[in-house]
Amino acid sequence: MTLLSPVWTALLYLASAVCFILALKGLNSPRTARQGNLVGAFGAVIAVVAVFLSVHLENIPWIVGAIAVGSAVAAPVARRVKMTQMPQLVALFNGVGGGAAALVALLELTHSEDGWVRVAVVFTLLVGAVSFAGSAITFAKLQELMTTRPVVFPGLPIVMTLVLLAAVGTGAGVVLSGSQALAVGLMLLGLVAGVLLVLPVGGADVPIVISLLNAFTGLAVAASGLVLGNVLLVVAGTLVGASGTILTRAMAAAMGRSVAGILFGAFKGGSTAGSTAVSERPVRSSSAEDVAVLLGYAQRVIIVPGYGLAVAQGQHTAAELAEALEERGVDVDFAIHPVAGRMPGHMNVLLAEANVPYESLKEMGEINSEFKTADVALVVGANDVVNPAAKTTAGSPIYGMPILEVSQARQVVFLKRSMRPGFAGIENDLMYEPQTTLLFGDAKDSLTKVLGAVKGL
Ligand code: TAP
Repeated sequence: MTLLSPVWTALLYLASAVCFILALKGLNSPRTARQGNLVGAFGAVIAVVAVFLSVHLENIPWIVGAIAVGSAVAAPVARRVKMTQMPQLVALFNGVGGGAAALVALLELTHSEDGWVRVAVVFTLLVGAVSFAGSAITFAKLQELMTTRPVVFPGLPIVMTLVLLAAVGTGAGVVLSGSQALAVGLMLLGLVAGVLLVLPVGGADVPIVISLLNAFTGLAVAASGLVLGNVLLVVAGTLVGASGTILTRAMAAAMGRSVAGILFGAFKGGSTAGSTAVSERPVRSSSAEDVAVLLGYAQRVIIVPGYGLAVAQGQHTAAELAEALEERGVDVDFAIHPVAGRMPGHMNVLLAEANVPYESLKEMGEINSEFKTADVALVVGANDVVNPAAKTTAGSPIYGMPILEVSQARQVVFLKRSMRPGFAGIENDLMYEPQTTLLFGDAKDSLTKVLGAVKGL
């Protein structure tokens, strides 16, 4: 006996699906993202409640206990995680989702006689296991529990091909026989394939692979919806699969790479991996007071935020500096590169947190033509996203990535701590150009000093 009739269940599922779609719409812009997130979470709550009220569940104490343990672990982790560690958190949560879908399919195999349902079981098992193992490796890479560089060994493509062929054969065996033992074997092959898929990917490509694995989890969840005959899982999984695919393509395009190039280039050992050598060439460095004079007497300043601003948590000071300059009549904008920082939309989130008006945040396509009218480009903790090597040095790990054209500004000021390179591990020749000045130090400290000096002008 269940509390909800099928009609009410369908209506709640519909409400939940609408919430998920509205959530994606909300996530489209920093202005509405927080609200979108809440709407999505509300949709998930409706879905869980609908299941409890409409399905005859056994072992309810175990289910509630598992939900309580999961929430007790996930909530504090999600609250405490630093913004710069968000990609690995997403990888972890995403991998767990894929693994859960695979386990559900494994259990459902015992009572699925229908051949098509078994096909869905096989798909869920394989893709869910790939997503779980692949996400675990990306987590370990980004958390620096293992090397972030590509890991390749001779014969890797052959091993991968053999694993995939074995998976196809085992999958066909599961469909024909419904054997649980073969299904476990298939899951193990999926785990190996997930590890082999991600090991050769390194450097800046890892977050793209996280997004790709996210799409995989979505597909596995959608297929598990077919296995369980649950339409909401099909809808939610498809939404994750589609949005993950779009995000993967957008991130790859922003880095000037193709998704296939990232995966298959990696097999050849071609994933991004720069050197971390620091050159001895001389550079021009200045004091905070000199930088304040440059900024305070400029007509137009473009601030380029990057990963270092996030690490230093200097967003509030950057916003205050922009305000102080505007009070002096300087025209100030923030130039946002799509892959600045370590996650999509990182700079938008950071600057929105500091209440920088959305009109001052200019996307790359919009601002690039304006650098030539800027007196100063103030690069705060950014490096790769302004590195001209992306345009000039074929073979560089970032070659082909569209960049912010800061070199066209009359003066370029870098705020960073040392001459160390950025994420891609390559030198930035712009730092040695005559129009460039460096102010060494932690971004927040430097911004605070410059702000103080601007106020004293
Ligand atoms: P990066 O190229 O990584 O450069 C960051 C710079 O910040 C470094 O040169 C570092 O120099 C400086 N820095 C670090 N901590 C600092 C601090 N506390 N104060 C001041 N400076 C500090 O950053 P970017 O220009 O934002 O480029 C992002 C890179 O990450 C790209 O290569 C991109 O492909 C990659 N990536 C992006 C994403 C997404 S989706 N956004 C995901 C993964 C990877 P010092 O050490 O000398 O201070």
